Amino acid sequence: MATQAMSEKLQQDIDIQFEGKSAKLPLHRGTEGEVGIDIAKLRSSTGLVTFDPGYGNTGACKSAITYIDGDNGILRYRGYPIEELAEKSSFLEVAWLLLNGELPTKTELSSFSAEIKQHTMLHEDFKRFFGALPKDAHPMPVCAATVGALATYYQDPESERQIHSSVIRLLAKMPTIAACSYKHCIGQPFMYPRNELDYTSNFVNMLFATPCEDYPIDPVAARAIDLLLILHADHEQNCSTSTVRLVGSSQAPLFASISAGISALWGSLHGGANQKVIEMLEHIAREDGSVDKYVARAKDKNDTARLMGFGHRIYKNYDPRAAVLKKTCAEVISRLGKSSKLLEIAMRLEEIALKDEYFVSRKLYPNVDFYSGVIFNALGIPTNMFTVLFTMGRLPGWIAHWLEMRRDPDFRIGRPRQIYTGANKRPYVSIDRRG
Ligand code: SDX
Repeated sequence: MATQAMSEKLQQDIDIQFEGKSAKLPLHRGTEGEVGIDIAKLRSSTGLVTFDPGYGNTGACKSAITYIDGDNGILRYRGYPIEELAEKSSFLEVAWLLLNGELPTKTELSSFSAEIKQHTMLHEDFKRFFGALPKDAHPMPVCAATVGALATYYQDPESERQIHSSVIRLLAKMPTIAACSYKHCIGQPFMYPRNELDYTSNFVNMLFATPCEDYPIDPVAARAIDLLLILHADHEQNCSTSTVRLVGSSQAPLFASISAGISALWGSLHGGANQKVIEMLEHIAREDGSVDKYVARAKDKNDTARLMGFGHRIYKNYDPRAAVLKKTCAEVISRLGKSSKLLEIAMRLEEIALKDEYFVSRKLYPNVDFYSGVIFNALGIPTNMFTVLFTMGRLPGWIAHWLEMRRDPDFRIGRPRQIYTGANKRPYVSIDRRG
């Protein structure tokens, strides 16, 4: 069972005085030393609310799942450095770690894998569901809709046992849903899951195989995708995870909460950035490879272009996931014997940006999306599927946060405040007296 978030309440408080009212606000220190002001009593004591658009300074919860130190480029899942998990672990093992708080024993991992294999198929009626969707639909809303529709097939009230079944069904069916969302848009028949294959190889087979012949799975490709899933598995309170928590806080079922998370991840400023990175690199390649021109556009306030895959709300240093991916990129591309043109453009972009005052002064570094798209592209993953693979990777993280929130003894529905800037009280004017 996952360990509950541990924190200590500090001896000292923060005093706030305002218009004759005051509050002593307690301080909590996390296990890595970061301190948060507990403002639970702020409004009732002083009438004040906080104002923090984008929640850049606001801790929404205590969590024991993932730790990020953005200034030093540190990322750990349940205390284990991402670099070690990337090198030594597997995606299913990382999923177990995120969900249960500890690395699994051999027996735990093999029964987890066996249980997942029993639930990889979708109800046959989903063929009609996919058939009703336009062929040119982006796979992300297809995945969000399909995950939401799982709640129509599994309608039992959410007991702990039922929640466990929903967790297994989500992890088991996500690769099948992802592959079907792609097969649907290219008009190829859906491939059934194959239980003799491991989790990631099964996905590769469903994505690329056809019923006409066996599909030889390239172990280099399967391992690269498994690594990408590990690197995307969790990232504390990012936009889509916060969405899953907020939706789940109303007691909405797990499938509905995850469906909302998929929709949030689709945004181009979030998970959708990996697709935009490739489109940016391909644009530069078509243009004449002029990286300098694109960097100038990204700096120009009058130009909407951004250096996609660069910058991060938390990392003000190199995203450790990007560092792992940059190293993996070169290995995968050379072992697959693919063209490294997009990688060369990406590395040239990085080289220029990291010396440019605009990016240096704003602490903009490559993030996870900068190199992941280059690997996906080299693996032959269709561009509009990049964010779907991000979804597959992030799924165990979303579920772990949803479970942690639901099991928190201080759990309550999320309902932020606001500062009202609208009209003051005014009387109704009948339509024949309006201008
Ligand atoms: C992910 O939160 C997570 O953990 C997310 C994620 C995860 O694993 O869940 O890590 C995954 O979403 C990674 C981020 C992917 N998005 C992109 O690569 C899109 C490009 N990056 C940006 O749009 C931006 O950097 C964000 C959205 C990532 C962060 O936005 P912030 O923190 O709100 O920063 P900002 O937009 O206020 O930017 C600060 C300044 C601004 O300039 P000034 O107003 O100070 O002059 O930096 C500039 C921005 O214009 N800027 C960029 C830029 N990113 C920020 N300028 C050019 N190119 C960029 N990429």
